Order: sequence, then C-alpha cells, then structure tokens
Amino acid sequence: MAKILVNNSGPLHGEVEISGAKNSVLPLLAATLMTEDVCVIEDVPDLADVSVMKQMLRNYGTDVDDSEAGIIRTSTKEIRSCEGDRDLVQEMRASLFTMGPMLARYGKVVMPMPGGCTIGKRPIDLHLKGFRALGAEVIEDEANEVVTVSAGPEGLVGDAIYLDFPSVGATENILMAATMAKGTTIIENAAKEPEIIDLANLLNKMGARIKSAGTDMIRIEGVERLSGCIHEAIPDRIETGTFMLAAAITRGDILIKNALPGHVRPIVAKLRECNVDIEILPEGIYVDARDRELKATDIKTLPFPGFPTDIQSPFMAFLCTVNGKSFVRETVFENRFMHVVELNRMGADISTENSREAIVPGGRKLHGAKVRATDLRAGAAMVLAGLVATGTTEISEIYHIERGYEDLVGKFKALGADIMKIED
Ligand code: EPZ
Repeated sequence: MAKILVNNSGPLHGEVEISGAKNSVLPLLAATLMTEDVCVIEDVPDLADVSVMKQMLRNYGTDVDDSEAGIIRTSTKEIRSCEGDRDLVQEMRASLFTMGPMLARYGKVVMPMPGGCTIGKRPIDLHLKGFRALGAEVIEDEANEVVTVSAGPEGLVGDAIYLDFPSVGATENILMAATMAKGTTIIENAAKEPEIIDLANLLNKMGARIKSAGTDMIRIEGVERLSGCIHEAIPDRIETGTFMLAAAITRGDILIKNALPGHVRPIVAKLRECNVDIEILPEGIYVDARDRELKATDIKTLPFPGFPTDIQSPFMAFLCTVNGKSFVRETVFENRFMHVVELNRMGADISTENSREAIVPGGRKLHGAKVRATDLRAGAAMVLAGLVATGTTEISEIYHIERGYEDLVGKFKALGADIMKIED
C-alpha cells in the first residue's frame, strides 16, 4: 500500500504550473462518443480517473490514442457495446457522464448504479429526470443495481427541464444528450461551473448549437450529427486553489502559472480576508503569505460562483493554523467532513455541530500523525497540514489523491516541500 510522508517543510517558494482540469477533461472525453470523427483533447492530466474514462470509451468501441503525453485522440467509428462496466463505474462516478453521449449517439445505455462514496449518497435522480424529459424510457432495476435508458421511437425530443439542484453532472449529462435531440431543450437552474462552459465550447466546436452555458438557463437547439474537433481543456481551478493554500499555510510565496483568476474568485476573496497578499499578474496568480499576521474567516460552500466544496477541506487545514475561530459550513454534500477526524489526530481540535457545520478553533500547532486520505480533496488537505506539522505525517489511502492531482508530490517537492511517496 503506497503512502505519502510529509515532514515540516517551512515556507514554500517558487512557481507551479497548473494541469488541465480533471472535472473538465472527463466530460470532454465522454462527449467525443457522439461523433465518428477524430477528436483531439489537449492538456489532459495524467490521472487515474482519466485512465478509467479511457477504458470506459474503449469498452463502448472508441479507438483511444494516448501515445502523446497530455493529448488524447479518439474516434468512435461504431458503438460495439452500450453497457457501462460495473467495476469502472464503482471506481469512478464520473463514468456516468457517458450516459448522455451514448443516448445521443446510440439511443440506449445500460449503466450500473454508482455506489455512494465517503462524501455522500450521490444519487442520480436529476440525471434520470433529464433523460425522461427528453422522451427516454428509464428502467431502474434496483435488484441488479442497473439503470437502462432508451431513447423513444423517434429518438430524443427536446423539452424544458428544471434541475431541483444545480447538479454539475446532471447539467453535463443532459446538455450532451440534448445536443442531438429533435427541437429545443432548455435546462433551468443549470450548474454554472467553468467546466460546463468548457464542455459547451467543445460541443459547439463539434457543431452543436448551445447558448448561454455558464448561466442558470442553457438553451440547446438539437442538430442531426456532430463532427470532430480539437480542444484544449481549461486549467484545474481546484488544483489552483490547493497551491494557493500551500503558500498560505506555509507562510511562503508561490507563483501559480496557467491559472485562470476568474475561476477562483471566492478563494482569492477568502484568502484576502485572511490577510494573504494575492496579486493577479500576466504570468499567473502570485500568493504571498510571508511575514504577515494572518486572520481567521468563515467559509460556506455553494455551487459556482459560490465557494467551491472541493476546496473546503484544504481550506480547513489552513484555518487550523491561523489565530482565531472559524466556522465552516458544507452545503453541497451531506458528509464531507471525514477529514475532521484526521486533522484532529494532528491536534486541530475541530468540533462539528453536525455533518454540515464545523468550528475550527485555530491557533493550533499541528503535530505529525498517521492519517488517511478520506477523499480526493481531503488527501490534499492532509498534505497541506503535514507541511506545517511538527515531525512526520504519514498519509495512507493515497489512491484518492492520485485520482485527481497530477504529480502532486513532484510539484510540492519543486516548491521546497520535504515530501515523498513510499511503497509499503
Ligand atoms: C462534480 O460532481 C465534481 N466531479 C465534484 O468533484 C464536485 O465536488 C461536484 O461536482 C460539486 O461541484 C466531477 O465533475 C467529475 P453534483 P457531481 O451532481 O456532478 C446532489 C472532486 O473532488 N445530486 O453537482 O457528482 C448530490 O448528492 C469531485 O473532483 C442529487 O441529489 O456533483 C450532491 O449533494 C468530488 N441528485 C449535490 O447534488 C443528482 O441527480 C452536488 O452534486 C445529482 C446530484
């Protein structure tokens, strides 16, 4: 079992280059199922989740060429199977994002139900509500934990769909299915994350007719077919936030290159409230926390453009090290405080009112401990805490981290961190 060891590293300093966004690349790759033509996706990070998506596509019949680093070329001449692989779906929930494209291209998809995960039940009712609104028949086989979705006799037909929650995945799945439905589809209360806009940009390059992605009402005029394209994924705003917090928690200074400031406004705002100096420069985002008295602040996670839930745990690790009490509210997932137990092993003294509210007393001198990465982002939070804890922090279950951060250990080492990966 591989682990990450982190020693107290002092202030980090230097430059880091942000990789392509995991949460953009996954739907982008899924969308390429909808055309026989060659698609080229660029700035693809080398992640476990990307490997799972490549395998999902290959199982459906896609030729995937990943011979050139950072670039994936796909062509789906024909669909050979419409069944999602259970193991792959269990391994990565985002495998679900192939449902919309398969419905649009092939008219049918059989998908094992994804289990919940540590952060919540993660139902797919809104995805299925959208498919039904487009005229598809949805059969949920609880016994076999499989859902079969089939387009109606005349294919998918556009309609108005209201999302009870601005779900990122449901917005993306419905958006992709609607691109080749007959007539007009309106998605109301749609998710507004930058990854939605990136996906819409790819689809429009392929010949789709999508308007106002990035707002809470997206309009799609269905088209007969989609063609190939070349598209570069947006940089990863969550990785960007993680390295901003690395500068803040170690009281160092880091220039974060290839980052888009417009995608991380809440993180910039909150770190500035803590008296961290942040400059938006042409070459990137410069975060400077040297020789400054930092302050506590409160955070409340919300769908974009609110404070991102994926940065909640790394930010909480940082709040442990500033003087003053902070309140953290998690409104997006029902169980995303698993990292509290792990931070408390390091002396954080965090108390949770329930699974949605935590009180961080702050001003704590963290000490090294054996901790677990309880989810992808909590793993990053443990690395951050380990950088400033006295002694050594040993992080297990690091497969979570490797799902979503490209070469995290290497990038931290280059900034002066005393960190290494070991095989137990
Ligand atoms: C995406 O997950 C991201 N994953 C998550 O990032 C991110 O945390 C999340 O959006 C919120 O921003 C990818 O893009 C691959 P949701 P997704 O549907 O689409 C409820 C990471 O660390 N819901 O917006 O699954 C759901 O239970 C990962 O990179 C329903 O009730 O998130 C949750 O409480 C973690 N019914 C809330 O909505 C549904 O049909 C938000 O989920 C769908 C969702």
